[in-house]
Amino acid sequence: MAILKIARMGHPVLLTKAQPVADVAAPEIRRLLEDMAKTLEDAGGVGLAAPQVFCAKRLFIYHVPASRAEGGQAVPLTAVFNPVVTSLDDEKVLGWEGCLSIPGLRAAVPRFRRIRLTGLDGAGAPIDAELSDFEARVVQHEADHLDGVMYPMRMEDFRYFGFNEEADRFPMPLPEEL
Ligand code: NI
Repeated sequence: MAILKIARMGHPVLLTKAQPVADVAAPEIRRLLEDMAKTLEDAGGVGLAAPQVFCAKRLFIYHVPASRAEGGQAVPLTAVFNPVVTSLDDEKVLGWEGCLSIPGLRAAVPRFRRIRLTGLDGAGAPIDAELSDFEARVVQHEADHLDGVMYPMRMEDFRYFGFNEEADRFPMPLPEEL
């Protein structure tokens, strides 16, 4: 296993549309998945998409640690291939997001509160899940990476965009209503 370099915003790989993974069991895909898990563990984020490690394939991994579960369930490290995300209704919520490709910064980004996620899991079995709140946010963020979309492209109010150190010093409450 290897820790991979993470592409930073400005690199064109982060703006490309990734290609579907044809064979989840292919040795190079298994190796990529292991390396991505190692890279995410080392970097300390909650999600990582293949384009962030310079591989334009439709694959991401994510987890929800107990500390971020917001009263819901923690989610162990999960791989998703060829994801399709659809909103279950029109409700959007603002929440803070960071990205390993935009180090040191965070922003409040509107996301659908409830989504349906389909695709294949790490073993190639079908996923069909309804997700909400933080897990839904993480999945929308990671799925966006597969379409070349970075979180600033989803922002509506740039007052809620800043460096982590300053945001920690001057916490900004988020509006309840969008
Ligand atoms: Ni990201």
